[in-house]
Amino acid sequence: MIVTRMLPGGALERLGEVVDLECWPGEMPPSPAELLSLAADAVGLLTMYTDRVDTPLLDGCPGLRVVSNLAVGVDNLDVAELSRRGIPVGNTPGVLTDATADLAFALVLAAARRITESRDLLLAGAWTTWKPSAFLGLELRGATIGIVGLGAIGQAVARRAEGFGMQVLGWSRTGRSLPGVTRVPLAELLGSSDVVSLHVALTPETRHMIGAAELASMKSGSILINTARGAVVDQRALYEALVSGHLGGAGLDVYETEPVPLDEPLLRLANCVAVPHIGSATVATRATMAELAVDNLLAGLAGDPLPHCVNPEVYEH
Ligand code: NAP
Ligand code: GLV
Repeated sequence: MIVTRMLPGGALERLGEVVDLECWPGEMPPSPAELLSLAADAVGLLTMYTDRVDTPLLDGCPGLRVVSNLAVGVDNLDVAELSRRGIPVGNTPGVLTDATADLAFALVLAAARRITESRDLLLAGAWTTWKPSAFLGLELRGATIGIVGLGAIGQAVARRAEGFGMQVLGWSRTGRSLPGVTRVPLAELLGSSDVVSLHVALTPETRHMIGAAELASMKSGSILINTARGAVVDQRALYEALVSGHLGGAGLDVYETEPVPLDEPLLRLANCVAVPHIGSATVATRATMAELAVDNLLAGLAGDPLPHCVNPEVYEH
């Protein structure tokens, strides 16, 4: 049994009591070559979103019976290939919904009220006096938020926005209806929202779904929040939209390349609030995610259905 990073909480102890466990000790993830050699004889693999599980890895792990990802997103795994090989894949939905929605809303507030920009001015010694017109931001009460993707986290952000007195628009490809959320076509959502918050999974269909044309169609002065996956947004186009002054601000937890390179121009923009992929990073949530990932792994090893399986079709044969 291979776990690709030490995990917080007591879940690994529980796992170690029932299986023969090898845990990658590094703070950095194993390289693809290191993972290949680590996992060659593995029957189960507990991965992070920083690990790629693809055909070359799977070819090198012929005994693998289950993959359990410590994340709700599974875009780091070739799920189609895993399914083809009959290997069930677990993920950790639900338990991280509130923590991630909280972070999304922290970014909404930080961008709307220019928190990092004003803090930087203070630390630079440039706070000369209280000014009636300094750092005026967006008042959330009465403003409109557009939520792209009405899955668990999108819905939890909608509930938070309602609490702040915002009008809530939502778009989802499957057209779910939700109390308090007015469902509209994506073009209408982008053109009518003061804040747009992204919550779709990264798939071939959602890659760069927010590009130059979509950004241009957003309201002048509006704010884009991305806690989904970096590649849902064309990062270059976002930079241009912020620099031109068309967008008022952005709040980002995720990037097309992670860690985001320090020379990424977005990081230099005063109106871009950037944090390092910390959506689910609370003590309680990470411990619960680890427990769920271990539950998925143990169920897979026992040949039982995983508590959270993203490819249940593997059980159909
Ligand atoms: P979820 O409940 O499964 O929701 C996924 C959403 O993605 C649903 O709205 C779904 O639409 C939509 N979607 C999937 N495929 C799509 C496609 N091809 N086109 C358009 N929409 C599509 O998952 P969740 O828990 O809300 O998490 C959402 C995403 O947030 C995850 O996939 C992950 O990438 C990201 N995330 C990030 C962090 C972080 O640390 N920043 C933490 C947790 C999650 P339907 O409902 O219409 O199927
Ligand atoms: C984190 O990014 C997740 O998908 O859980």
